[in-house]
Amino acid sequence: MEPILVRSKDSTYPIVIERGLLQQVKVFFDIQKDYVLITDSMIPSMHYQPLLDTLSIKLLITLPAGEQIKTLSTYQDVLEQLITHRIKKDVVLLAFGGGVIGDFVGFLAATYLRGVSYIQIPTTLLSQVDSSVGGKVALDYQQAKNIIGQFYPPKAVFIDPLVLQTLPQRQWSNGMAEIIKMAAICDIHLFEKLESMTLETFDDDVIIQSILHKKHYVETDEFDQGIRQHLNFGHTFGHAIEAYYNYQKYTHGEAVAIGMMRITKNPLLQKRIQHCLIRYHLPIEDEVSLETLLPLVSLRSEERRVGKECRSRW
Ligand code: GLY
Repeated sequence: MEPILVRSKDSTYPIVIERGLLQQVKVFFDIQKDYVLITDSMIPSMHYQPLLDTLSIKLLITLPAGEQIKTLSTYQDVLEQLITHRIKKDVVLLAFGGGVIGDFVGFLAATYLRGVSYIQIPTTLLSQVDSSVGGKVALDYQQAKNIIGQFYPPKAVFIDPLVLQTLPQRQWSNGMAEIIKMAAICDIHLFEKLESMTLETFDDDVIIQSILHKKHYVETDEFDQGIRQHLNFGHTFGHAIEAYYNYQKYTHGEAVAIGMMRITKNPLLQKRIQHCLIRYHLPIEDEVSLETLLPLVSLRSEERRVGKECRSRW
């Protein structure tokens, strides 16, 4: 298919979605460029071996898997590696992994030498449909998630749905939560499809539809001051639940699933969301009380607005 073009304030970047893209390196990547490939230890190396074989990779950095790398100390370590290897401004950083790698490498790219190019190559369902699109990049500080960040769009997003073949089932569910969220806030037809589909009958069109919606939100409100905040549906409680359990008990999508159930008051809408979450093996409740969560929650008016908007569309 034709690339999806995303307009940002300073540039337009393509999202290329193609099965087998990573086997066609010379078609999609500029082989004249120098690259630094940053990935994590959970990603099977067979997925990026064609890049190592074909491109001028000046440095391969494999970080531990998990949110704990989004720290100033890992950032400093990686910066030191770039400096030691005399990585120059015309390099392209390759963010090869899930949302954590995307956030980390994007932040690194935004700041190294006052900004170098980077390409997002998301390898999880969640990062393909959500975090790789829109230019949000960040590190955490102590318990504060994404507190040090930037809007820094990638040069391109390359999505190869074939990499999902090695994705564990829990990570499929993790991504499905964001797809359900997207359908709930803006696309009744997609939602109806999710209500009858299963993971076994999942098709790439679900990825494409989710990305087209994300494109609409980020092009309309790149800097997250209005309508883009609709994407936070379920995230206010979701973030609080993740933080309460120290990011150990739930994946992001699982916490958002519980968050959507807690914030949705319309009984019909809640029932349909619940049915859909269960269908994709997502939790719908947790025993932690509202009173316990409230100190961790900053109830944001935009989420209440989303609740209203969902009701009016359904
Ligand atoms: N993941 C929410 C956003 O990009 O705004």
